[in-house]
Amino acid sequence: VIVPTYNEASLIEDRLENLKSQNYPRELMEVLVVDSSSDGTADIVEEWCRSKGGMNLRLVREKERRGKLHALNTALKHTHSASDVIVFTDADCFWEDGALSKVVSYFADSEIGSVTGGIFYTGSEIELGEDMYRDYYNVLRIAESKRHSTPVHNGPLLAIRGEILRKVGLPNYPGSDDSAFGSFIAFMGYRAIQVDDAIVREPIRGNQFRRKIRRAQHLLLNFLRIKRYAKKMGLYTRSWSFEKIWKMEWWLHVANPWLLVSSVALLVVSVVLHGSIIALALLGTGSLLLALKMYRIWMLQQVYLVVAALRNLWIKEEMWSR
Ligand code: GDD
Ligand code: MN
Repeated sequence: VIVPTYNEASLIEDRLENLKSQNYPRELMEVLVVDSSSDGTADIVEEWCRSKGGMNLRLVREKERRGKLHALNTALKHTHSASDVIVFTDADCFWEDGALSKVVSYFADSEIGSVTGGIFYTGSEIELGEDMYRDYYNVLRIAESKRHSTPVHNGPLLAIRGEILRKVGLPNYPGSDDSAFGSFIAFMGYRAIQVDDAIVREPIRGNQFRRKIRRAQHLLLNFLRIKRYAKKMGLYTRSWSFEKIWKMEWWLHVANPWLLVSSVALLVVSVVLHGSIIALALLGTGSLLLALKMYRIWMLQQVYLVVAALRNLWIKEEMWSR
C-alpha cells in the first residue's frame, strides 16, 4: 500500500490507524509512505511506528518535492518484487472496513488488471454540488466496469496487479496521477474496474474550485494522451467493448463542453444581431433550468472542463497547493 505525503502532519496518524484497522492478514501487507514534506510528517510517521506501530511500514524520504506521480514512481522502486497487488492511496481519506480485502479479491480473476473503490464524501461539507456529482459519477463508473472497464480511476483507493506494474510502470506524463491508470490498464487488454463494495470516505478540504479545475485538467490530459502513450509504448491491444466506452467518455470530456460554449455564443449572436425571439426563448429556458440542482451541476462540470482545457495550455499542475 503506497501513501504519498506532502505536508500531512495533521492527518497522517489517523490514516495509518485506518490502514492498520483493515482486516487483512498483517504479514501479507506492507505500507510504504513516500514523503516530501516540510512540516515534519516523516518524523510523525517514524514516531508512530516506534510508539504504536504493529504493521509493516517503511518510510521513504524524498530529498525534494517533485509531485505525486514522482513520489509514486519512487515508491515503486521500493516495493517487493513478489507483491501481487500494489495499492495506491492518499493521506486524506479513510477506507471503510474490509475495503482492502474486497479490492484484492477481484484479482483472483486473471482478466482484471486494476480495481478502484468508490469515493463518498463525509458529513455535511457538501460544496459545489459535489455530492450529486459523485452519485452520478459512481453510477457511470460501475456501469462501465460491468461492461468492460472504466477509463477513470480514483486515487484514494486504486489497486493494480503487481506483475503489470513491474513490467510497464506507471504512465508517465504530466497529469497522470490516478485517473489515467484505468485507461492505461484497459488499453493493455486487461479490465480496469470500479467496484461498489469497496468504499472510501474523503473529507473535502482546501479550495474546492481550484481542485475541481485541476482534476478536470488531469482528466482532459488523460483523454488526450493516454491512448497514444499506450500505442507508443507498444502496449495497446484493441478491445471493442472498451473502445465504445472510451469514445463516449472522450466525447463527454473533450468535445461536449465546447458544444455548450458554441451554442450559447450562437444564440447570443442571434439575439443581438438578428433580434431572434426563438434564440432569446432558448437562452431564457436554459437560464431558468439552472434552478434545478441536477442541471446546474451538469452545467458547472462543463464550465470546469472549458476552463481546464484553456488552463492546460499554460500549466499542467503536477504539484499543487491546497
Ligand atoms: N510525496 C508527495 N509529493 N506526495 C504528494 C505530493 C508531492 O509533491 N503532492 C501531493 N501529494 C500527496 C498528498 O499528501 C496526498 O496524500 C495525495 O498526494 C493527494 O494529494 P491532495 O493534496 O490530497 O490532492 P487532492 O485531494 O486534490 O487529490 C486528488 O486529485 C489528484 C489528481 O489531481 C486525489 O484524487 C488524488 O489521488 C489525485 O492524484
Ligand atoms: Mn486529497
